[in-house]
Amino acid sequence: MSASLDLLFGAHLQEVMRRSGVALADSQFDRLLIHAGEPVGVFRDDTEYPYKPHAIFRWWAPLLDAPGSMVEWIPGERPRLYFRAATDFWYQPPQLPVGGWPEHFDIVTVSSWEAMVEALAKQPARKTAWLSDRPPTGLPECVQSSPAALWQQLEFARSRKTGYEIACLREANALGAKGHRAAEAAFHAEGSEFEIHQAFLAGCGQREQELPYNAIVGVNEAASVLHYQILKRRSPTPVRSLLLDAGASCRGYGSDITRTYARSAEGPFSALVEAMDQMQQGLAQQVVPGADWKEIHLAAVRGVADILSSAEIVRCSGEEATALGLTRLFFPHGIGHMLGLQVHDVAGLWADDRATTIPRPPQDPALRLTRILEPGFVVTLEPGLYFIESLLAPLRHDAALREKLNWALIDSLKPFGGVRIEDNLALTSTGHENLTRVAFG
Ligand code: GLY
Ligand code: MN
Ligand code: MN
Repeated sequence: MSASLDLLFGAHLQEVMRRSGVALADSQFDRLLIHAGEPVGVFRDDTEYPYKPHAIFRWWAPLLDAPGSMVEWIPGERPRLYFRAATDFWYQPPQLPVGGWPEHFDIVTVSSWEAMVEALAKQPARKTAWLSDRPPTGLPECVQSSPAALWQQLEFARSRKTGYEIACLREANALGAKGHRAAEAAFHAEGSEFEIHQAFLAGCGQREQELPYNAIVGVNEAASVLHYQILKRRSPTPVRSLLLDAGASCRGYGSDITRTYARSAEGPFSALVEAMDQMQQGLAQQVVPGADWKEIHLAAVRGVADILSSAEIVRCSGEEATALGLTRLFFPHGIGHMLGLQVHDVAGLWADDRATTIPRPPQDPALRLTRILEPGFVVTLEPGLYFIESLLAPLRHDAALREKLNWALIDSLKPFGGVRIEDNLALTSTGHENLTRVAFG
C-alpha cells in the first residue's frame, strides 16, 4: 500500500504546488514556509498532548512524527523539507522513510529551531508567508506570519482531493472497516464499551492517538448522545444496541464511519436500523457533481420523517411530522460534511476562496456543508434517528403535539439510544465511489 501511495504522491505534490502557486501570486508572496508546529505541553507539567502537525503541512508532506519540521517552497523550484531530528537519549529520534515520498523534496536535516533559523538566514531575503501556530521568532522581517487571505485560499484549494488523497482515504476506510468488524464481534460477545474500543484499535492496527478523532462507542442509551465520549468498563444487562462512530487514518487522512448494531435481529429497533440503512443507500444516489448539499440534507429529513411515520413512532404522515417540527427532534444534526485531512474538513460553507459564506438553512444550524458538490470532494453521508430525552421531554406535556407521538413505542425504543449510518463518498466526474461500502465488501 505504501509503495502504491508513493507512486501517486508526485502528481499530488505537483498539484499542491500549482494551487499554492496561484494563492501565493494572488497574495504577492515569493516564498512559502509551512512549519509543522510543536507538541503542546500540559500546563505546569512536563508532559505533552499527542502531537499532530496541522493540515496544510500534512497536505504538503505526510511527515507525522517529526515536530518542528518545515516545508520551504519558492515557486518554480523544488520544495525543501527541513527535517527536524535531534540526537536525544530520552526519545527515539524520528526517521525519514528511505525512498518514496521524501524523494520529491530536497532534505535539510536540522537538530533544532535555532539551526533551522540559521539555515534560513543564509538565503536571500524574499517576501515570505509563514504558516504555523508557532510564531516566526528570530526570522527576518520579510517573513509575514499567518496571512489570513492565504490561509483561506489554501483551505479552499483543499476542497477537491487529488488521486493520492482519495487513495489515502480509501485505505483509511479499509483499515476502519477492519476495526468495525472486530468491534462488531466484541459487541456480540457482550464486551463493554472499553473492550469494544480496544477491539476496534486492534482491528485497525492503530493506537488511539493515531485515530482521526475520538471513537464514539455507545452501548444502549449512550447511542443517543451524538458525540458520546465515555468508555464504560462494564457492559450493561441486557446489552441491546451499539452505535460505533469510529475511523482510522492513513498518512494524515481519516475515515469517519458509523454503524449501528442490534443485539437481537428481532423487534422494532432492528427494523429501524434496517430502514435507516436502506434510506441512506437510497439517498447516496443523489450524491453526484452539481447536486446542492442543502437539498440532500432536506431529502434526508424527509427520509427520516417517512421512517418515523411508517414505524408509527409519530402518529401522522412524514410530511406533517416535518411541518410540525417533530422530525428534527429525532434527527438534530446535518446529513454530512467534507472529509479529508480534518474530520470536519474545511471550506464546507464557502462559495469561493475569499470565504464568502453560503448560509445554512435557518432550521438546520448544525449543517456543516452548504456547497454544490464537485468532482474530487469527499463527503460523509450520515443520517441519524435518535431518542434524545432532552429534546423530546418538552413535547410530553405539549397539549397540541403530544398526541402526535407514540410515547409507548418511544419509551420502549429509548433504551436502544438511536441509529446512525455513516459512509464516506468520493465524488467522481459522474457520480461517486462509496469508499466505506467498498471497504466493508
Ligand atoms: N465523527 C463525527 C462526525 O460524524 O461528524
Ligand atoms: Mn462520524
Ligand atoms: Mn461525520
